[in-house]
Amino acid sequence: MKILVIGGGGREHALCWALRRSPRVTAVVCAPGNAGIAAVAECVPVRQTSVADMVRVADAVKPDLVVIGPEVPLAAGIVDALSARGIRTFGPTQAAARLESSKAFTKDFLQRHGIPTARYVVAHSTEEATAALPAFAMPVVLKADGLHAGKGVVIAQSPREAEQAVADLLAPGASLVIEEFLQGEELSFFALCDGEHAVSIAAAQDHKRIGEGDTGPNTGGMGAYCTDALLPDALRDRLLREVAQPTVDGMRAEDSPFRGILFCGIMLCADGPRVLEFNTRWGDPETEAILLRLQTDIVDLFEASINGRVRDLAVRLRPGASACVVLASAGYPGAVQTGTVIHGLHATPPPDTEIFHAGTAIYADGEVVTAGGRVLAVAAVAENLQEALAQAYAAAGTITFAGMQFRRDIGHRALSRAQRQDRQESDQV
Ligand code: AMP
Ligand code: GLY
Repeated sequence: MKILVIGGGGREHALCWALRRSPRVTAVVCAPGNAGIAAVAECVPVRQTSVADMVRVADAVKPDLVVIGPEVPLAAGIVDALSARGIRTFGPTQAAARLESSKAFTKDFLQRHGIPTARYVVAHSTEEATAALPAFAMPVVLKADGLHAGKGVVIAQSPREAEQAVADLLAPGASLVIEEFLQGEELSFFALCDGEHAVSIAAAQDHKRIGEGDTGPNTGGMGAYCTDALLPDALRDRLLREVAQPTVDGMRAEDSPFRGILFCGIMLCADGPRVLEFNTRWGDPETEAILLRLQTDIVDLFEASINGRVRDLAVRLRPGASACVVLASAGYPGAVQTGTVIHGLHATPPPDTEIFHAGTAIYADGEVVTAGGRVLAVAAVAENLQEALAQAYAAAGTITFAGMQFRRDIGHRALSRAQRQDRQESDQV
């Protein structure tokens, strides 16, 4: 099979890498790709905001299957456009992608279908927002509608901050979700859906803040890990029963059947899991960690979703743990300078370690340079989380570029949880 992947970040590098390992795949083309993807796929330029551009690429490539990575093409209707031309495409339609592209739609949908989430109000004007705010305790969460690359959410600590956030986030004619602040640990739960059923792929934990100890502004994600301990069977079954399956049922009942990856952003609250948000695609950097453990042929996953056969799929993960550390440009998540030379990329990474490129480009002289905020995602898989992290950090340590920043505490929650358990066990002895 010849596969076309749309996107050009760390997630798409991991998807292309996994596709290349499939015995069913003879060629991978990625549009637009990046410097690292160019080593595993043929890269062709494309504007991911232009459905017409992407359709032209697909017409030229003539793929057997198209895989859509990012949310922007999904929200623009790329799956509808390609499917209408008879091109098999993995991912949700534009209508189904509203689960990510509109927070107001999603909150109302969750409420309509009794799926647990934070109490909320949708405001369409500053007056409505100001009138709604007193009903919420501080801190309160404010979310701009639409796609904002993880940066459209403010957690306001005081009524004054909340009013400022309303002014900052509420675009004319748009809406704003105001919701109750939930306490707990966050989990990224990935379910594969075929319009009728949802099955579990894996869970991972992201690290959204730029700073160690979860401080500073939100980013697209600074690192992730994937262990079985994150998703005990009982939690997996509960997330399928209370969140993923009711979402698939609800979308089908509303004539927007959901096919693709349903990425459930979950808060594990004292009284049970609640939905923070949905994404209608693989997570980045969660995917870089998860795919290192995925043993099932990834083409089988895509086809099961398209053909309505997810329940027939045996999803197997390699035992152990995987982890991924993001190396970012100076200034990220704010404005960054690009074109900085990256050193240390030429050595072959050790076994079970992969250097996925996110924002990179090749200069005319062949040198690899930075081309975005998140530059590289260094991922490793091992027997346990400590070893996976040690491997990923060792590989990251061989790479340098001016202003490079990364978090040194990826996996800290899992590691301190394990330490607490060890202490409790030794206390009992
Ligand atoms: P979202 O884009 O909706 O996932 O929000 C981005 C981040 O803001 C989440 O990953 C959480 O860390 C935080 N967040 C969102 N909603 C809430 C909430 N209701 N309570 C606490 N934190 C939240
Ligand atoms: N890592 C969060 C996301 O992909 O949106």
